[in-house]
Amino acid sequence: MSRPHLRPDGPPGATDTLVRGETYVLTTVYALVFYVATALLVGGLAFRVWQYATTPAPLKIPTTPAPTTRTGVWFRMAREVVLFQSLFKSNKWIWLFGYLFHGALALVLLRHVRYFQEPVWTVITLIQPFGKYAGFAMIAGLGGLWARRLLVPRIRYITNPSDHLMLGLLVAIGLSGLGMKFLAHTDIVAVKAFFLGLMRFNPQPLPADPALLIHLGLVAALMIVFPFSKLLHAPGVFFSPTRNQVDNPRERRHVAKWATARYESGK
Ligand code: HEM
Repeated sequence: MSRPHLRPDGPPGATDTLVRGETYVLTTVYALVFYVATALLVGGLAFRVWQYATTPAPLKIPTTPAPTTRTGVWFRMAREVVLFQSLFKSNKWIWLFGYLFHGALALVLLRHVRYFQEPVWTVITLIQPFGKYAGFAMIAGLGGLWARRLLVPRIRYITNPSDHLMLGLLVAIGLSGLGMKFLAHTDIVAVKAFFLGLMRFNPQPLPADPALLIHLGLVAALMIVFPFSKLLHAPGVFFSPTRNQVDNPRERRHVAKWATARYESGK
C-alpha cells in the first residue's frame, strides 16, 4: 500500500521526501536531547559525588549498634543497599513498596540494556521475560509510595511538590513503556539502531510513534533532573556518616580532615 500524499497536487515522491525530512528533524532533536541529558547526568552526578566526598564529617556519629571494624561497615552498607535494612526496621509498609519499586526498576533497567549492546549478554537475554512484567510491579510500588504521601497526614505534611513530580515522572515513564509493550507497539529494532548509532555518533532514524516519543522525552527529563533531585539518595547513602563510620571512638580519636589541616598549619 502506498503512503497517503500530504500534498495531493505535489509530484510523486513528495510525501516520501516530507516524511524523510520530518524523520530527520525528529532524529536530530532527540539525538541532541540525549547527548545533552547524558552530559548533564554524568557531569551532574560526578559533581554531586565530589561534593559529598569533600564535605567534612566532623563528628563521630555512627547509628549504634554499629560495626567496630571496616569490614563490618562494608557488610552493614551491603545490607543497607541490597535489603534496605534500616527502612525495614523503621516501617514495614514503606519498605514493602520501596523494595517492590526498586527491585522491579532494577529488572526493567537490566532488560533495557539490550538497546545499548550488540551482541547482547546472555544474562540480559535470560531476564527478558521477567523484566517485561516487572514494569507492573514498578507501577504498583510507586502507587503504594504515592498513596502514602497522599493519605497519611504526617507524611502529607512534609511532602513537597517535587516529591509528587518525581513520583509522577516515574509513573509516566512506566506507563508509556507498558503502553508500548502491550498496546501500541513500536519498532524496537529501529529504537536499538538509533541508540547504538548515538553511541557511535552516527544516529539512525528514530520511529515517530507517540508513545515512544513520550517515553524517551520523559526519560531524558529524568536524566536531567536526577543529579539535582532527591533521587540522589542512591549514591548519597554511601556517604552517610551514620552508616559508613566505624564505631571505634574509644580506640581512635576522630579528627575531621579539615580540622587536622588547620591544627597543623597553626591557624
Ligand atoms: C534511553 C533509555 C530508554 C529507552 C531507549 C527505552 C525504550 C523502551 C522501549 C522501546 C520499550 C518497549 C519495549 C517493547 O515493546 O518490548 C520500553 C518499555 C518500558 N520502559 Fe523504557 N526506555 C528507556 C528508559 C527507561 C527508564 C529509565 C525506565 C524506568 C524508569 C523505563 C521503563 C520502562 C518500562 C516499565 C517498560 C515496559 C516494560 C518493558 O518492556 O520492559 N524505560 N522502553
